[in-house]
Amino acid sequence: MFLTRTVSRTVITQLPRSLCPLTSSLSRSFSSTPTRCNAQGQGTKVIQPTLGVAAAMKAKSDSSFQPKVQIFDEFALKDGVAVVTGGNGGLGLEMAMALAEAGAKLYCIDLPASPSPEFLACAEYAQKLGTSLEYIQADVTSQSQMSSAVSGIVNKHGRLDACVAAAGILGPTETSALDLSEDDFRKVLDVNTTGVFLTAQAALNGMVKTGSRGSIILIASMSGSIVNRGHPWVAYNTSKSAVLQMARNLACDFGKEGIRINTISPGHIYTKQTAAVLDKNPKQGEIWAQSNPLGRLGQVHELRGVV
Ligand SMILES: NC(=O)c1ccc[n+]([C@@H]2O[C@H](COP(=O)([O-])OP(=O)(O)OC[C@H]3O[C@@H](n4cnc5c(N)ncnc54)[C@H](O)[C@@H]3O)[C@@H](O)[C@H]2O)c1
Repeated sequence: MFLTRTVSRTVITQLPRSLCPLTSSLSRSFSSTPTRCNAQGQGTKVIQPTLGVAAAMKAKSDSSFQPKVQIFDEFALKDGVAVVTGGNGGLGLEMAMALAEAGAKLYCIDLPASPSPEFLACAEYAQKLGTSLEYIQADVTSQSQMSSAVSGIVNKHGRLDACVAAAGILGPTETSALDLSEDDFRKVLDVNTTGVFLTAQAALNGMVKTGSRGSIILIASMSGSIVNRGHPWVAYNTSKSAVLQMARNLACDFGKEGIRINTISPGHIYTKQTAAVLDKNPKQGEIWAQSNPLGRLGQVHELRGVV
């Protein structure tokens, strides 16, 4: 059911495109609604857009059909609205910029009362590109704060097209499981797992309420599937593994609403989070680089196309 693809060590779990409800930007390409049987043998309507091979076949049989490049429209978010948590910097801000460049109005949620210089530069740049990036202070571990932040956006625009749950913490980097405090363990799970759930929950409520056939992307990690050998990161790895199963569960729960839920599992990328390890021990960067197929660390911009 799920496809996996690797970019360096970044793994994306994604529903097959043929089963994905498509974004509204494609609705004008829909030509027919053939019926397909589900596992129970009941007929389900499957939207069949005239794209790719289907477009070529249509052009062959219908001389009035105008050939047109559609791949960029498929990923366009023109007039869309998106939310990114952890969007004050790092991977969250880079992914927010990618979505803004695709045409969406972006709302970045993060902890600090005022946004970072990088965020402010991006907001100014987005404005020059004819879109917007706004900052909202909220804590992903608070259900009331997340609900209020996201419902404010949804009430203003009447839609929510995408949500990326990127807020996350690594936790103590060198503490053995023998000594890890209950508080430290809980804190990592609180932000990385509960926080991701509360983000998805707020987005799902907004999407269901407005009938938005949106996309929710939970940022997990390769650490949800493998162990970073040599690093005692049991809390982090546990929290990310939970995100993978959370996405499968929510994807099955909300697929019928036309809402897609996927995960991205980045490999090692230099950000504030990994700086906590790499700045203390530069040799670690070389060890991580050598464990990657490309022989180097990933870079934040390499997730632009992925998101
Ligand atoms: N950098 C990597 O190599 C890497 C690899 C795999 C997964 N990830 C994941 O990618 C995501 C982004 O990480 P990053 O590398 O950009 O790190 P980062 O530290 O640069 O960004 C994380 C952001 O989350 C915010 N945040 C933390 N707790 C929060 C809370 N309670 N509420 C709201 N915001 C909060 C931080 O303020 C920060 O801006 C994280 O989930 C991380 O686990 C990163």
